[in-house]
Amino acid sequence: MSRPEVVDSVAALRAQVSDWRRDGLRVAMVPTMGALHEGHLSLIRIAREKAERCVVSIFVNPAQFAPSEDLDKYPRQLARDLDLLATVKADLAFTPTVGAMYPAGFATRISVGGPSAGLESDFRPTFFEGVATVVAKLFLQATPDCAVFGEKDYQQLCVVRQLCRDLDLPVEIIGAPTIRDAHGLAMSSRNAYLDEAELAVARQLNAILRRAAAALAAGTHQDDATGEAGRALIAAGFQKIDYVEARESLTLAPWRRDHAGRVLAAAWLGKTRLIDNVEVPTV
Ligand code: PAJ
Repeated sequence: MSRPEVVDSVAALRAQVSDWRRDGLRVAMVPTMGALHEGHLSLIRIAREKAERCVVSIFVNPAQFAPSEDLDKYPRQLARDLDLLATVKADLAFTPTVGAMYPAGFATRISVGGPSAGLESDFRPTFFEGVATVVAKLFLQATPDCAVFGEKDYQQLCVVRQLCRDLDLPVEIIGAPTIRDAHGLAMSSRNAYLDEAELAVARQLNAILRRAAAALAAGTHQDDATGEAGRALIAAGFQKIDYVEARESLTLAPWRRDHAGRVLAAAWLGKTRLIDNVEVPTV
């Protein structure tokens, strides 16, 4: 298994993509911040089913980290990432530098409304501007036909769909299911921050959300179901709950009974913030 070719300049990326286009090949993109795990690899497998060629970007995007967040500490392990990319046969890794993405004088931010309201934005107010800006740049740099994003970051997936719709970016956005460990914990590069005791607590998050979603489906009032989930998270050992909320799956507007729904949560374990979400089952 050979590692994918690696390019760090937009010119080299565009040259490769236009060669593929000339050969009539469809191109998929999977944007990542590296520290790849099975969740990322699952997106690449889906991308390879949807297109003949797959570009994976690896870029720890400073624009989506607040000053208090873990930009410096975020795991960077390019050699290992390239070995993992070889196992799923990614064709090209795009690894731009911060200076190339945000040269001196860079002054544009993309602000997406709609699904970015509330949830993550209440706690990370500049996060989706950072994500939308970098995703728009990556799409304009690589001009993929389609791109795969994980439901693990459900609000991000909705924001990216809105971005493409509003700006007529001709990229088909494909949502991919969350990959979890055997205990239900959603795989995340930030799980590496957890010690053994924290890991045991983290593994209860998904079951607690599934219980809340089942309660909603069974007719429990949403304030009761999400309130109970918040209490259960604290009882399990989470120190602080940023939110547990039920929202409509497509728009992320507040959930109304008989509409497709999602329960979304963010909670803290020590210095680590975990997010997860589950579908409200239809009865
Ligand atoms: P990152 O956290 O590296 O995630 C890259 C992609 O992998 C995202 O679409 C995310 O939803 C998906 N992903 C992460 N964990 C997953 C899991 N357990 N199962 C399925 N998919 C999973 O999200 C980002 O990077 C950045 O915000 C980015 C979109 C790259 C913009 O900088």
